[in-house]
Amino acid sequence: MTADLLTGRWSRFLRPLGGGVAALLALAAPAAAQATQPARQVTFTKDVAPILQRSCVTCHRPGQSAPMSLMTYADARPWARAIKTRVAAREMPPWHIDRNVGIQKFKNDPSLSDDEIATIVGWVDAGAPAGNPADMPPPPQFADGSEWAIGKPDLVVRFPAYKVPPSGPDLFPNLLAPLDLTEDRYIKAIQTRPVSAASRRVVHHAITTMVPGDDAQKAGDGGTERDQFIVEYASGKAPELYPEDSGVLLKAGSQLRLGTHLHSVGEEITAEVEVGFLLHPKGHVPKYIRYSTHHGDPTQDPLDSLDIPAGETTRVDGYTLHTKPARIIAFQPHMHIRGKYQCMELIYPNNPSKMKREMISCAHWNYNWHLVYNYADDAAPLVPAGTIVHIISWHDNSAANRNNPDPKNWVGYGDRTIDDMGFAWVGWVDLTEAEYEQELAARKALQQKAKSTATTEQQQQQ
Ligand code: HEC
Repeated sequence: MTADLLTGRWSRFLRPLGGGVAALLALAAPAAAQATQPARQVTFTKDVAPILQRSCVTCHRPGQSAPMSLMTYADARPWARAIKTRVAAREMPPWHIDRNVGIQKFKNDPSLSDDEIATIVGWVDAGAPAGNPADMPPPPQFADGSEWAIGKPDLVVRFPAYKVPPSGPDLFPNLLAPLDLTEDRYIKAIQTRPVSAASRRVVHHAITTMVPGDDAQKAGDGGTERDQFIVEYASGKAPELYPEDSGVLLKAGSQLRLGTHLHSVGEEITAEVEVGFLLHPKGHVPKYIRYSTHHGDPTQDPLDSLDIPAGETTRVDGYTLHTKPARIIAFQPHMHIRGKYQCMELIYPNNPSKMKREMISCAHWNYNWHLVYNYADDAAPLVPAGTIVHIISWHDNSAANRNNPDPKNWVGYGDRTIDDMGFAWVGWVDLTEAEYEQELAARKALQQKAKSTATTEQQQQQ
């Protein structure tokens, strides 16, 4: 067939027809094979174990956050039904990015493809057969320090233990710990974790800040203007991974302050939290400083911004202006129990040569999982000076929200777990105009290359 025939009005008819024929052939092949030999059964050892090893056992193994191990057939078999339910609903592994909107390339993405989900569902529906033991992949090797999702930290700071009584109002203590550093270092990855399963139950959130060494501020007091924000933690929080060329300064001689929010759960619990850091080598100063702040808090005065009537689903919008060009490296929605869904849209400055707005990420929300979506380096949005980050949050205060403790109550903005919020923690690095132009050109070249490789492959197939 000549190229001419594929252009113009004929292409509309020819292309779908070609695709349809290919699809029919693809369907026919396995059917013919089935006639002679029965379809191979989906088994644990051959088909399911590799999926669990990639996407589940980082948490589902002894000593980790998940309630049961999924390392072996004996471990997983009793959970087959629950696995099917959670996996088919895309509740496990926890990863709530909307797969139909915006950027889909992230670092450490554990999510399952539709085919992998179908494999697991098929396995459970077939009675969860074990399969041939010889097919079982070798158990994954976990490196020293692998209880940390960032890998073995270069530095761990553990804050003083704090006793949480069985009942009472929420507590907001500030805990100080010295930073054991003799010279300035830059962070390249960071993870906060409650030290035990019991601690996990009472720690609602924790904000780590750096306190200058000469600051007279004591542990019992709140932060000062000289505190520098380092990282936020909330239930189920994933680690933050910065691009290689960026970091956050940890200053020698400083202390770390943990501003926590603790919540009684009916028994006395000693809460303990630690923060692990991966650091750039000694003496290395990364090219960019990575920032992270609230983006799109609903109004300048958050106290009267959220208005979520009893039984209703609401939408609230917030905006944050970037006055310099930037590379956006992470998106982490933040809401409380009524949260349902959040989107991040970019509104570009009024420049006719650029697209005006772009929806770059949307994510479903589950309060138990404060997930950070770290963009892959070649997918992190590059934005010109004057870009507005628009955050749209939906809250569901009806009985249909399974987590809703009280659909009969109005809910507004506030710190308590039963109040709500609607903003995103956005991570980024500032760029100069020249760096922006340079990165944009490099990105375009990369996309061009990918496109031409794809075209060559297509031509080879024809
Ligand atoms: C980031 C850590 C993490 C990953 C990855 C993860 N889980 Fe979980 N899983 C948990 C935690 C924590 C819980 C308990 C809280 C909850 O139920 O949400 C849980 C709960 C579950 C439950 C419900 C158990 C019950 O008590 O009913 C199932 C089933 C499950 N996970 C299966 C999986 C499967 C299958 C995968 C991989 C495809 C997976 N999980 C990946 C952390 C994880």
